[in-house]
Amino acid sequence: MSVLIRGGRIVTAADDYVADLYVEDETITLIGESLDLQADKVIEAGGKYVLPGCVDPHTHLDMPFGGTVTIDDVESGQTAAAFGGTTCHVDFIIQPPGQSFAAALDDWRSKATGKQMIDMGYHMAVTDLKEGGSLEELATLPEQGVTSYKLFMAYKGALMVDDETLFKTMEVAAKTGALVMVHAENGDVIDVLVKQALAAGNTEPLYHALTRPPEAEGEATNRAIQLAHLAGAPLYVVHVTCKEAVEPIALAREKGWDVWGETCTQYFFTSLEDIAKPNFEGAKYVFSPPVRDASNHEVLWNAVRTNVLSVISTDHCAFLWDGQKTLGKDDFSKIPNGGPGIENRLQMIHEFGVRSGRISLNRMVELLATSPAKLFGLYPRKGTVAVGSEADLVVFDPQKQVTIAASAHHSKCDYNLYEGTTVTGSPEVVLLRGQVLVENDELVASPGIGQFVKRARFGEELKPAAKTASA
Ligand code: URP
Ligand code: ZN
Ligand code: ZN
Repeated sequence: MSVLIRGGRIVTAADDYVADLYVEDETITLIGESLDLQADKVIEAGGKYVLPGCVDPHTHLDMPFGGTVTIDDVESGQTAAAFGGTTCHVDFIIQPPGQSFAAALDDWRSKATGKQMIDMGYHMAVTDLKEGGSLEELATLPEQGVTSYKLFMAYKGALMVDDETLFKTMEVAAKTGALVMVHAENGDVIDVLVKQALAAGNTEPLYHALTRPPEAEGEATNRAIQLAHLAGAPLYVVHVTCKEAVEPIALAREKGWDVWGETCTQYFFTSLEDIAKPNFEGAKYVFSPPVRDASNHEVLWNAVRTNVLSVISTDHCAFLWDGQKTLGKDDFSKIPNGGPGIENRLQMIHEFGVRSGRISLNRMVELLATSPAKLFGLYPRKGTVAVGSEADLVVFDPQKQVTIAASAHHSKCDYNLYEGTTVTGSPEVVLLRGQVLVENDELVASPGIGQFVKRARFGEELKPAAKTASA
């Protein structure tokens, strides 16, 4: 199978030029001017951008959490991702307490079997090193292509780990070449504040945000940075929301420490005003860390522009408003934490980042594709447009107007955080390893097309599949 994409504006993290691009089987084999080649499929891309398929390093599909299970399974979540121009994601395996990491990996892989619409990898969320997986077992994960360990410093009584577990995992990562990821909020302090709020009769969704103050995120972010530095492990702080967390990351990076930070689309657009909406509407905005004071929006734009934060992910963790969020109708602490967003990241960042003049097109590609691919061991197979890279491509129409709505999205979620927002610019054709997934708003591919990707260790490149012994 060959594909010729003619006359598109190819945009990578570093370059921006008009050319033809030729794909043979799964790989980009030629880029040049006026290529005189026959192809099984020709895509006319004049006036369109040709971008690398976006990489979302933070998603939760088919995940038990908060007394329920996220509403998008691998098929629906990845279908939504494909429509949004995301061709690879890294999902979180949550180690069930008392279970080995191998059993958890098997469980998560079997949930994906036959359902995959895009390529995927896994992070391992460590919850228990006493009765379940051991440090020795944890050390074996990178050779299986699971090259990042996640730790939750919040969700006391559920996923939260103590500092001993955090530090010991960091020490293993330093030896095995894994990247440590943290959900940085002080879970003990939050637990005290939640109990105080409920005792005072404050049960509405707004109290989710008020009991998780920015200081709790700032403190945990700084603690994780210091501990990772002590252990000699590289650290990636997920879903950064506020100045209090941006500042310690900026300081560590100024010092040249191996620290990176990510924020998510929703933190640029939502605020305390949303979670305060009446009639339980605010529950749609219950995710952690919580929505913040709107003054943080510009803090985050500035941080992604200046590379204090290096990635924008989605933290797609969708629950139905009607039937799942309602578990917490009378008690905000029982509202499952998480929100949808896997489909709208590229549209929203293009509209409010690039079109509004906050970041360049190159920087958008870097934040949504190249940096996550590099940090999570997928580059240069993924995350760029280059000869030898996999043909994960988005032909993006910068003129196409779309009004975002739950009634039109492909997630099973019954609401959209950006409902009613009109954007100019949207994917027109999305290819995964040279195969068309989505064309003109139609799904063209079938489940099973996506693959599990064995990721490279932190700082290492992922060689082309053909040259890898067992991909
Ligand atoms: O509220 C959120 N973010 N839910 C998903 C789990 C996590 O903390 O990332
Ligand atoms: Zn989290
Ligand atoms: Zn998450």
